[in-house]
Amino acid sequence: MNKHATLEKIVSWAKRRGFVFQTSSIYGGLANNYDYGPYGTLLKNNIQNFWWKTFVQEREDIVGLDGAIITQADVWKASGHVDNFNDPLVDDKVNRKRYRADHLIEEWNKKNDVDLNVEAMSVDEMTTYIKENKILSPDGNEITDARTFGLMFETFIGATSSLEDGKVYLRPETAQSIFANFKNVIDTMRVKVPFGIAQVGKAFRNEITKGQFIFRTIETEQMEIEYFISPQEDWEKLYAEWQDEMLSFYKSITHDAESDLRYRKHDDEELSHYSKQTYDVEYEFDFGFKEVAGFAHRGDFDLSQHKEASKQKLEYRDPYTNEVYVPHVLEPSFGLARAVLVAMYSAYTEEDLGEGKSRVVMKFPKHIAPVTAAIFPLQKDEKLQTMAHDVYLNLRGKFDCEFDNSGNIGKMYRRQDEIGTPFCIVVDHDSIDDNCVTIRDRDTMEQERVAIDDLEQWISSNI
Ligand code: GAP
Repeated sequence: MNKHATLEKIVSWAKRRGFVFQTSSIYGGLANNYDYGPYGTLLKNNIQNFWWKTFVQEREDIVGLDGAIITQADVWKASGHVDNFNDPLVDDKVNRKRYRADHLIEEWNKKNDVDLNVEAMSVDEMTTYIKENKILSPDGNEITDARTFGLMFETFIGATSSLEDGKVYLRPETAQSIFANFKNVIDTMRVKVPFGIAQVGKAFRNEITKGQFIFRTIETEQMEIEYFISPQEDWEKLYAEWQDEMLSFYKSITHDAESDLRYRKHDDEELSHYSKQTYDVEYEFDFGFKEVAGFAHRGDFDLSQHKEASKQKLEYRDPYTNEVYVPHVLEPSFGLARAVLVAMYSAYTEEDLGEGKSRVVMKFPKHIAPVTAAIFPLQKDEKLQTMAHDVYLNLRGKFDCEFDNSGNIGKMYRRQDEIGTPFCIVVDHDSIDDNCVTIRDRDTMEQERVAIDDLEQWISSNI
């Protein structure tokens, strides 16, 4: 675990440095929802683009999709979400505050040193456990029996706003857009099993747990792949290969975080209604090892359900054997906000520079840093300012760059350290004569003299 990073520090740093703000904060803030500020947007886009490059652009067997958020109710009836996608909730009997029953039990178990897989408990088992152990709300009041609470957001379309006919859902996972488009994709693209369909997009869940920052939000983005395989395929081999790829993606967006990442297998009782086998990638935060990506073997559950409900031929014909079958599915599923949070946690570093000086430095891997290079003049001299600004203008279309002419070199360095800019490029008086600049490395703070004409090449090869 990165000992420097705590949720409190990350939340305050993210707000102070323009990464993440609470949604509707000028009106008091909407619980469990966040907006990304200028640097947060750059960081998130870089992670998302890197994911797309890794799993779509650089592979021959995966194509992309961008499905709609508002989806017909039939999709969610067939997928099992209308019946199964819910959380166990309890209410505080005095102040009516609402809590996840499993979370209250987990906290009670932690305090009392009880080792129990709460995720595997049914709602009735939770109620019994709460009663037997006299578990109270965080305010010390009695709580109601546990009950299921649907996690999907529903809304109504058209003029018939109150009728069941107009009911639609905001998708709670991007996956179903892929299953619902399976036939469209195989009819229009030259894909052959095994192949995958990838998608990055918004998903919505009526989460009630507060205080987990961007880890758990009601509106979130998922980066998912549905990888279609033959039922005869040696799926265990493919599963192991995907596990390596998922972990290696996480390693590539973290700083030195190998030991903070692990896989955890779901118990049979914990498996989602569609899953034959699931492993979670977990990262060790200061609030424990938590799921940052999930990897399920969904079998033919989804395609078979949609095949039956839609009466469409959601099948695949093998071009060599002519065999017709419903493919099975392996599903690597990443939460984009969780990837962003992991990148923040693992980058956050407090360094003692000696002589009473210290710095906070975000050691983002260079390829995902929100700003690649910051350019500034050493002093507020007009000639240096013009020259530095020209260097900035020349680089900004090629990399995410920032120009700062506020004058105090120490403060300019600290500011860039705190947003994780790998390279600070300083134009000084010698630059006028030798047409070179000094590049200061974020992590080592070492400096190198580079010709202005070579800057683009130098940055590209050092990212
Ligand atoms: N299609 C499979 C699926 O949706 P999931 O485990 O519910 O499975 C997959 O979600 C990933 O999406 C999780 O590992 C997590 O990274 C992310 N995720 C899910 N719910 C989230 C939420 N409320 N806030 C942020 N990320 C979430």
